[in-house]
Amino acid sequence: MPRKLYIETYGCQMNVADSEVVVSILGDNGYTLTDNMENADLILVNTCSIRDNAEQRVWGRLDLFKHHKRENPGTMIGIIGCMAERLKEQLLETDRMVDIVAGPDSYRDLPRLVDEAWEGQKAVNVLLSREETYADIDPVRSDRNGVSSFVSIMRGCNNMCSYCVVPYVRGAERSRDPQTIINEVKELFSRGYREVTLLGQNVNSYSREDKDNKISFARLLEMTAATDPELRVRFSTSHPKDISDELLKVMAENDNICKHIHLPVQSGSSRILDLMNRKYDREWYMDRIRAIRKFLPSCSLSSDMITGFCTETEDDHRQTLSLMNWAKYDFAYMFKYSERPDTLAARKLEDDVPEEIKTRRLNEIIELQNRLSLESKRKDLGKTFEVLVEGFSKKSKNDLSGRTSQNKVVVFPSNGSKAGDYVKVKITDCTAATLLGEAICPDIRH
Ligand code: SAH
Ligand code: SF4
Ligand code: F3S
Repeated sequence: MPRKLYIETYGCQMNVADSEVVVSILGDNGYTLTDNMENADLILVNTCSIRDNAEQRVWGRLDLFKHHKRENPGTMIGIIGCMAERLKEQLLETDRMVDIVAGPDSYRDLPRLVDEAWEGQKAVNVLLSREETYADIDPVRSDRNGVSSFVSIMRGCNNMCSYCVVPYVRGAERSRDPQTIINEVKELFSRGYREVTLLGQNVNSYSREDKDNKISFARLLEMTAATDPELRVRFSTSHPKDISDELLKVMAENDNICKHIHLPVQSGSSRILDLMNRKYDREWYMDRIRAIRKFLPSCSLSSDMITGFCTETEDDHRQTLSLMNWAKYDFAYMFKYSERPDTLAARKLEDDVPEEIKTRRLNEIIELQNRLSLESKRKDLGKTFEVLVEGFSKKSKNDLSGRTSQNKVVVFPSNGSKAGDYVKVKITDCTAATLLGEAICPDIRH
């Protein structure tokens, strides 16, 4: 009887991609996936440490799994991913119900770790690697639509932003062999996928030597786009310090590279950016946005912002608001600063902005972004976009849902198209989150 694996994933898209690798590795070792925890032999939680509330969420889920294990003592519980890497053996000390702890670079070792656990021992592997990219593992896709998928192109991060736990839990930056990336993309296309998102914490620093020539991220993007004109290519995340004109030109020259850049600014104040060790200032960031507007006039822009970082004043906060207003982000993720143990900021700076001020500032930037998001959608009214259909809309089987190149969700009455089709849609209405429209013709590419 094959053993059953239940896996829950928290955190960023990289964790989602990693869980697909884990399911593949364990699948080759006799585990079948179940989406019902009740009949699982092995429960894995792929965890995130980016903010304290991300860890709290996981603790909450673990309580539930432990309760389940008390009634079903044969079930094994494993914590994998970033929290496993951060807390290591401590997870076993504080919690006797956890059997396995595996960090992000040790997934090839999971079959052995799980066997050890079945034999009654606690099993831990939190070694970080300088080479591991899981390049040869064929991930078991977890997307629901069979249209868009993530492809991991690099791991780790060398940037050392002072607030960030990622370099500690994911280790040093390393880039994956480009040929394995292209092969994976081709394989996805042949299975009907029509969109890939190249993933890394800082994709712009992708770099591999291939025989005599160096492959930069811009080159990799070009190679990916060249696999088929019917394939859309996205990427995330770009660090503002090294988003180059070369990359913007490649985006401009290739219609199938989506016109959307996620370019997290974190703060609009140069003083705070310096304390954050972001390695760019407000002027540099604005210059990069001007370059994006010049090379890619139709490009949408999204960002991440942190409020209440150490020493942030009202003036710093107003600079964030003014930069947002100037950049006119189409979308943004916004967070309150959460001190992470052992990071540069935790060691060197005081987390001195009171909680209620962090909250107030966060609410102000959320309110502003809501207005900007609506403005961005309103600007699309009357325009026509090519939409890649992902499936039925959540609310009704009479409507289809898909995305524009700019990554905006469009819902429109079904014209008989199916997931994976390109449809030309004229935008007639919008909400703050969604564009609404009508199909003009089923497939403009034929
Ligand atoms: N590599 C990406 C983002 C990684 S984490 C980048 O550099 O842009 C995603 C987002 O979480 C970050 O952009 C930042 O806005 C937020 N974040 C990271 N650490 C945080 C912390 N300690 N407190 C609050 N937000 C944080
Ligand atoms: Fe964290 Fe900075 Fe690396 Fe992004 S670039 S993962 S914020 S250290
Ligand atoms: Fe979280 Fe790890 Fe991603 S800390 S944001 S899951 S890299």
